[in-house]
Amino acid sequence: MPSVFIKTYGCQMNERDSEAVTAQLVAKGYSLAKSESAADVVLLNTCSVRDLAEQKAINKMKNLVGTAKKDRPNQILGYMGCMAQSRGQELIEKLPDVDLVLGTQKFHRAAEYLDELLAGKREKIVDVEAEAKSEATIREHLLNGSAKTSVSAFVSIMQGCNQYCTFCIVPYTRGEERSRTIDDIVAECRELVARGVREITLLGQIVTSYGKQLPLTPSLSPSDGERVAKPGEGQIKKMPFVQLLDAVHEIDGLERIRFTSPHPKGYGDDLVEAYARLPKLCESAHLPVQSGSDRILKLMHRGYTRERFLAIVEKLRRAKPGIGITTDIIVGFPGETEEDFELTLSLAREVQFDNAYIFKYSQRRDTPAADMPDQVPQAIREERNHRLLELVNEIAARKYDGFIGRQVEILVEGPSKKNAARYTGRTRCNRIVLFDGSARHQGQLMDVKIERTGSFTLYGDPAVVNL
Ligand code: 5AD
Repeated sequence: MPSVFIKTYGCQMNERDSEAVTAQLVAKGYSLAKSESAADVVLLNTCSVRDLAEQKAINKMKNLVGTAKKDRPNQILGYMGCMAQSRGQELIEKLPDVDLVLGTQKFHRAAEYLDELLAGKREKIVDVEAEAKSEATIREHLLNGSAKTSVSAFVSIMQGCNQYCTFCIVPYTRGEERSRTIDDIVAECRELVARGVREITLLGQIVTSYGKQLPLTPSLSPSDGERVAKPGEGQIKKMPFVQLLDAVHEIDGLERIRFTSPHPKGYGDDLVEAYARLPKLCESAHLPVQSGSDRILKLMHRGYTRERFLAIVEKLRRAKPGIGITTDIIVGFPGETEEDFELTLSLAREVQFDNAYIFKYSQRRDTPAADMPDQVPQAIREERNHRLLELVNEIAARKYDGFIGRQVEILVEGPSKKNAARYTGRTRCNRIVLFDGSARHQGQLMDVKIERTGSFTLYGDPAVVNL
């Protein structure tokens, strides 16, 4: 049977899509190649969020074409995912040795198309059509892929985004919001837990909008949804996403629940309250703020102000003290002045993010921001990136140091990639902890005492081992 190698660019959704395609191919008898050069099929799962990510995948494909021509003339080469979706046929016109272009609604067709290409039945395949119900097709898991994947799994709950932030290409690469049903998602989670998974991360481009597009059944209607009583504060309506959290929380044997990516405006009282109410929901929240300037937030079409964002952070910290809060920030959005940028710096100082991912604004075609006036010169984007990075790293390092001497609960994922003698786990607030462990610790929840810190890493000592 043929062997396959998949290289993944971009976000966790892409990681998950690659896993599902790999699992699908393995189920059909494919083996996993150790390297690109040893594979019969090489697929690049691409990212379009920034130009750099696209250029990386294109350059990689050029290299692959070069080596394939020399050493493996029958090798099948394909693009899949976001750039495949947004560029389609154009990718083969540019590089005629590419055989397959598979869009974001077509992952489940990978095996069928590769069979046709390998058998020589078709020469080229480009499929970037929309497909109804494709959101429910990303469900196969490869739990024995590595030690880590058997402890913690990602489950895709929805596809697409209707927010249309002016900088963002995602609505065009992933399409309109479409959600799987609660029953379908819970069934997948149950199966994973039965296979040994202890932590599930619910995934989507905008998970807080989960279920808004589903037919309004009594249990899913945002307006008629069930109500939860909160002592002294009357009743809070539960949006479909919180109803999903409740349903997943019921699964016996599941220890931890996470989700990504939410939109800050989705943190209503029902979701904030869920952090306090659901013990399995880990106290970690990724709140992509993008900018600290109201003027820029409006131009970005984010749907919240700085003040509202700060209020959400405060509510979360009140509901769950010690909650880990991370963010995404774009520097150099069109029209961003020094004054706007300083508002972003002051917001970062005020919130004290546990970690922040900083992106230099990248013009994406067909997005409104690409045509906005006052595009910021590249040198200024670089300079702001540098200044903000210094600040957020300094804050993050201080926060990491605050863990020294504390005892924290970790879920042990497996051996560390860099040093197999060390084991790695995560705290509930999503920090990586390394410690001297062994195979028997894998999949265990255990307490460790933090002895020292490294760059975005805590080093722990198993103070009390729950075995
Ligand atoms: N340029 C730079 N960064 C971007 N992001 C999304 N689109 C762009 C763009 N055009 C960033 C946002 C988002 C993260 C996943 O990528 O910060 O939250």
